[in-house]
Amino acid sequence: MCGIVGYIGTQAATEILLSGLEKLEYRGYDSAGIATIWEGDVNCVRAKGKLYNLRSKLEQVETPAQIGIGHTRWATHGKPEEYNAHPHMDTALRVAVVQNGIVENYRELREYLKTQGHQFRSETDTEVIPHLIAQFLKEPSPSVPFSPSPFLDAIRQAVNKLEGAFAIAAISADYPDELIVVRQQAPLVIGFGQGEFFCASDTPAIIAHTRAVLPLENGEIARLTPLGVEIYNFAGERLKKQPRLMNLNPTMVEKQGFKHFMLKEIYEQPGVVRACLEAYFNADWNAGDSTKSPVNLGLPTEIYADLEQIQIVACGTSWHAALVGKHLLEQVAGIPTNVHYASEYRYAPSPLTANTLTIGVTQSGETADTLAALAMEKERRQGKEAKYQARLLGITNRPESTLGHMVPQIINTLAGIEIGVAATKTFIAQLMAFYALALDLAYLRQAISPTELQEIIDGLRQIPGEIEANLEKQEDYIGQLAHNFAETKDFIFLGRGINFPIALEGALKLKEISYIHAEGYPAGEMKHGPIALLDAKVPVVAIAMPGSVYEKVISNSQEAKARDSRLIGVTPVNDGEAGEIFNDILPVSHVNELLSPILTVIPLQLLAYHIAALRGLDVDQPRNLAKSVTVE
Ligand code: F6R
Repeated sequence: MCGIVGYIGTQAATEILLSGLEKLEYRGYDSAGIATIWEGDVNCVRAKGKLYNLRSKLEQVETPAQIGIGHTRWATHGKPEEYNAHPHMDTALRVAVVQNGIVENYRELREYLKTQGHQFRSETDTEVIPHLIAQFLKEPSPSVPFSPSPFLDAIRQAVNKLEGAFAIAAISADYPDELIVVRQQAPLVIGFGQGEFFCASDTPAIIAHTRAVLPLENGEIARLTPLGVEIYNFAGERLKKQPRLMNLNPTMVEKQGFKHFMLKEIYEQPGVVRACLEAYFNADWNAGDSTKSPVNLGLPTEIYADLEQIQIVACGTSWHAALVGKHLLEQVAGIPTNVHYASEYRYAPSPLTANTLTIGVTQSGETADTLAALAMEKERRQGKEAKYQARLLGITNRPESTLGHMVPQIINTLAGIEIGVAATKTFIAQLMAFYALALDLAYLRQAISPTELQEIIDGLRQIPGEIEANLEKQEDYIGQLAHNFAETKDFIFLGRGINFPIALEGALKLKEISYIHAEGYPAGEMKHGPIALLDAKVPVVAIAMPGSVYEKVISNSQEAKARDSRLIGVTPVNDGEAGEIFNDILPVSHVNELLSPILTVIPLQLLAYHIAALRGLDVDQPRNLAKSVTVE
């Protein structure tokens, strides 16, 4: 939520900042701005809306400045107007600041700063920061320890006054060789080049320039100069830190010939499943091998010992993955499992019981609601036996994220970086993590026989090939079918059992990127109310995979058909009753029902994608959304 970048070095900063912001636009796109220092002044240019508006403005005012900061905004405090766009500056226009996060005590700081003569120009919480820095530059505290720079020191004093979660980058016309960055519970990474240094909210923004990075920790301040990087804590003490090499290359954050990142990411899903199979499962395991589990998640045994229940906290698509996880953990491993919206759990947590594993699922590892629920859970367990503390697990695609620092154990979902705001391949990877976890637990608890286990794992190994075959059949067909729905106003998605969460996910994908109203329901619930919505204008998508609930889904679909709805089946069956009742069939391979969610979600992703693309919408950056929601 909001992206920040910074550059100091020997090249012209403007283009480096703009191309960095392009890679961060998934974090917010309500407005954008950059500030550079040139000829003794801060040069600040901002524009409402997407980055291309800023780019065209900058064509008229380009400077060869070699230091600067940039920002792309997802509005929290204040409307998405240019006057609220970052960077924000102090009254004398000497200090410029960009921020990602929220300054919770900004009202009282603003009132105090006004009494000191500072003039405010925006409605944002961020604007207090440059004014506060200017105030401390004017009146440095006498008690501060030795500092190499008054600018660094003023920022250190300012951040000690801020409450909330934030990442900041600041420059000043009076200190033109310093770029100061701060991290407090919002991500910030520093990049090390040859005589040049970068900072950004996320690594894709700097990957084109360097692979040597240092993620800042909470409570750290970095001073970047042309000579190097110094790190301090909020007390002003110098810390020793080394950069590390990141495993990412620039092509991973390009579209590679696809029209949108979302489509590319849908097509990457077979590879994601392969990567997870390779990482999570022992290749040499067979049903006759009783010496080890088929699964290798690298989790310590105390996480599993005497486990009586599991609770999962998550939001959005990750919450849907958690619901599939619940089905697997209960039906395969036999462990009672509850799934909570993280935002609700915080304010109404389940009573703390021994032998409960709490799992937070978040692809970004930065979702504020999920982090807050986990932080509360961690706090509740403090002072209890060690096993209470060990039983906190994160499932994330970004192990280096805030979540990675917060919980003792992580399952890394290996989807590779996801740029499209709508989650696709990270969802599939989360499902794979749950298959591995449930099968590991099922093995350890002897909840299923080795032969059943072998069958499921063999089935999983077939999945990447099945996805590839399905994509080949689905892409053109769904592209054509989408033409029928470009003007549709409402959609209903139905599923049962393990495919009920997939109905929810299909509806969410459609809502998010096409702005069509869509609801997912357990198919059996239709007749208890939602059926009143149905008529010829409301298409119904039914997930009908052969297995325990197939007949039931077909009869629920008949009920919808009787109300004139156009029926779209997600099913491998195209004859018999299914052949008769479905107007359209999105074909998927016939696999074990337990594994079917990995296949059934993909045509729903494609349906949402094609409808949104036909409506001419910005598929990768849908309105009002952002990829990592770092506010509660
Ligand atoms: C859906 C989507 C959101 C996220 C939700 C949680 O396509 O992207 O619903 O799933 O904001 O995000 P993470 O998984 O990063 O916690």
